[in-house]
Amino acid sequence: MDHFHQVAGVLHAEDVPLPRIAAEVGTPVYVYSRATLTRHARVFRDALSVLPSARIAFAVKSNPNLAVLKVLAAEGYGADVVSVGEMERALAAGMAPDSIVFSGVGKTEAEMARALEAGCGQFNLESEEEGLELAEIARRLGKTAACALRVNPDVDAGTHGKISTGKAENKFGVPYDRAAAIYARLSQTEGLQMRALALHIGSQLSKLEPLEAAFTKVGALMQDIRAAGYSVTHMDLGGGIGVPYKAGEVFPQPEEYAAMVARVTGNWGVTLMFEPGRVITGNTGVLVTRVVRVKEGATNPWVVVDAAMNDLARPALYDAWHDFAAVEPTGETFTANIVGPICESSDTFAMAREIDSVKRGDLAVFRTAGAYGATMANTYNSRPLVPEVMVDGDKWAVVADRIEPATILAAERVPDWLA
Ligand code: LLP
Repeated sequence: MDHFHQVAGVLHAEDVPLPRIAAEVGTPVYVYSRATLTRHARVFRDALSVLPSARIAFAVKSNPNLAVLKVLAAEGYGADVVSVGEMERALAAGMAPDSIVFSGVGKTEAEMARALEAGCGQFNLESEEEGLELAEIARRLGKTAACALRVNPDVDAGTHGKISTGKAENKFGVPYDRAAAIYARLSQTEGLQMRALALHIGSQLSKLEPLEAAFTKVGALMQDIRAAGYSVTHMDLGGGIGVPYKAGEVFPQPEEYAAMVARVTGNWGVTLMFEPGRVITGNTGVLVTRVVRVKEGATNPWVVVDAAMNDLARPALYDAWHDFAAVEPTGETFTANIVGPICESSDTFAMAREIDSVKRGDLAVFRTAGAYGATMANTYNSRPLVPEVMVDGDKWAVVADRIEPATILAAERVPDWLA
């Protein structure tokens, strides 16, 4: 459910007509609905309230905008971060340092030091090597790092290969059958306080079964580790719940997910941690774009829009589907290809899709663009970095400026010896 709807033939974000934002900010532009964000944050949080103790660390990578993080901080969310850059954002949004989980396979020494100084709540270690490095830094700084060991459970998440993370061939975590020994060694390492196992098997998951299989596996591992005399007080179950991008797609509801978690973890006696991203932010945003022109094609017309793969990379990267809808639909449809202006064929949003009839100058949206949208934008082809707007009822504000190519050009230097 979201708050993007037609009012008198014009698509609105809450009470604000999208043409008003497009007229003032230009296009392309991401538009987020605060009511939608708050609703998703509450639905997920309330669903997990059936568990004896649950902490939610929002996966900042899915939407790191400061205004978005502020809203989530107010809803009691912590943050799952994968870089110091993301950590600084979470802190800037007012999230408590000890509600921050630092994930990621390539944390650098400088990043680990900064996170320790900031009081980061948990480091999710992806290897024994990383644990030993972190321990050394912690000892040097006179700190103790609370840690989880990320386990690769070798479970097929049944999602797109590029966003699958829990198979043995993926780079994430430590192999399941080596995890107990690594946990034991790291537990005896001064500077670390091993307290949890962590897992995350992939994103945009459409079924609960792979998650249940993975949770069951790490639950057994947790019991082995305890039997060997080591302490496990927390378990980090990651994120991954998918959202529908297309009409008719059915995804697990937060209540079903929570019921499954309750069933599997009933006797674990731990604080459970979660790292949802897409399920919180996916429906929260649309990418507003303007049709540059409609060009005749060999088979179907090409609808050339002013958004491109640099603004919304998911179709190019993962063949992802984002619904396309006219802001002021006429009721007519046609079959067309939707493309951006970038000079490569991967800059394609849809082929041979039946869409609202649009013509030059019309506004349209790509829906479900709140997660992994603006956050993955870049400036390829020397295009501007796409701006972001947040709507709240009848109020709206630019929450990230458009960064113009001139600003980026001004940061480039030509050394004397080239002149
Ligand atoms: N925790 C960890 C350790 C992760 O790596 C991720 C996502 C999450 C949590 C959040 O997963 P979510 O709940 O959002 O599925 N750019 C891709 C998605 C990449 C996801 C990477 N990791 C896309 O646009 O589909």
